[in-house]
Amino acid sequence: MDVGIDHIAFYTPGHFLALDELATVRGVDPKKYTEGIGIREISIASNDEDAVVLAANAADKVIDEAGISRSDIGLLIVGTESAEDKSKPTATHVHELVGIGPNCRVYDIMHACIGATYGVLSALDWVRGAGKGRYALVIASDIARYERESAGEPTQGAGAVAMLICANPRLMALEEVSSFSKSVYDFWKPLEKKYPIVDGMFSAQCYADAATYCFQQETLKKGAAFVFHAPYPKLVQQTYHRIAKLFDDASPKESFLEKVAAGLRYASRVGNIYTGSVWLGLMSVLGEFHERKQEPSITDAYDGCYLFSYGSGCGAVLIRGEFVPGCEQILKKFDVQEQLDARNKVSVGDYERLAEIYERGGSPQEKVSAIKASGPFKFIGVEDEKRIYGSV
Ligand code: CAA
Repeated sequence: MDVGIDHIAFYTPGHFLALDELATVRGVDPKKYTEGIGIREISIASNDEDAVVLAANAADKVIDEAGISRSDIGLLIVGTESAEDKSKPTATHVHELVGIGPNCRVYDIMHACIGATYGVLSALDWVRGAGKGRYALVIASDIARYERESAGEPTQGAGAVAMLICANPRLMALEEVSSFSKSVYDFWKPLEKKYPIVDGMFSAQCYADAATYCFQQETLKKGAAFVFHAPYPKLVQQTYHRIAKLFDDASPKESFLEKVAAGLRYASRVGNIYTGSVWLGLMSVLGEFHERKQEPSITDAYDGCYLFSYGSGCGAVLIRGEFVPGCEQILKKFDVQEQLDARNKVSVGDYERLAEIYERGGSPQEKVSAIKASGPFKFIGVEDEKRIYGSV
């Protein structure tokens, strides 16, 4: 029985920061961000958007697009490292906001950027076993924040990807190929800190080592697309050059453009979205195929795809995906490009004001120009120490 992704949807806040403008204020050559790191724009969450809001917006969208009944969802997992509570799962809020019935297992998985991928693997197992013909809803939702003026600042981002997992999926079948784990301190978030502590160059080394290990376990199919967790596109490019040696690729620059670059288009406009990054990369490959319309089908264009997911700390997984013939119909519903083009640019000053509100735990009612949630859901505030959510 094939098990995999039936439908996938993305949500990003309606605002972005242009990195050339941030670079100018920081006194950095803009090309360092746009070419050296490979990110031009980063999505910026308003102060009435958090990981719950982004997750619920993406979940609502994927259920509507798939046209399934909410009562058919028997498992709901949120992968996030941006949770607002140390006990109550983000997924419980999503469960309520999106209106999924009580007969459902609901929980979060936290392991840095790989949490949602572990959620997908759990969902594959659940569908093969206890799922009994029902759907699993897995959501990757994060607001990637780094301290202002730190090296990580240009690699922030915000967004959520929601996926429906089931038997005989309409989009793609998934199979785990290999995994890797090792305890390291490359990127971590002590509970009392607002921002992560990052050993940037060491984290890039850990990422590349984990990728090399995972890809070494497989005889790679040369015609496949390669989709990577993308903290920043340059790291993916550098890592792919290492991977290409594994299958004696004599022209890695060309094969990077053929097999990998399509998966990085959105990353350069959204930034790092942690758990959702690799899944947005998948949407990027599919979206690129849909726009270029050269081959009649995605199965002609690619012999499946490899998805490499990495979470600091660290864990990594390589998954192989097979596109389902006829899945092109689903791609017509993708609106990532439209969402990105419709965002409003925020000034560096407003970005700094939003960061300052976040740092002191300010209220979502505080106004920063007209930067507000675009919906359908928003964070209203804290009452009796409980976070309250509602519709925009
Ligand atoms: N024009 C063009 N390129 C320029 C340039 C200019 N004027 N100035 C610098 N560059 C290039 C540099 O040459 C370099 O490219 P190469 O690697 O090809 O040499 C690139 O820009 C970056 O420059 P630096 O090496 O000086 O970068 P930095 O030290 O300022 O920051 C970083 C890089 C440490 C990775 C930082 O972005 C960071 O800390 N990021 C957060 C951590 C991260 O993303 N880690 C990734 C692995 S961990 C993970 O995957 C989990 C996760 O999502 C966080």
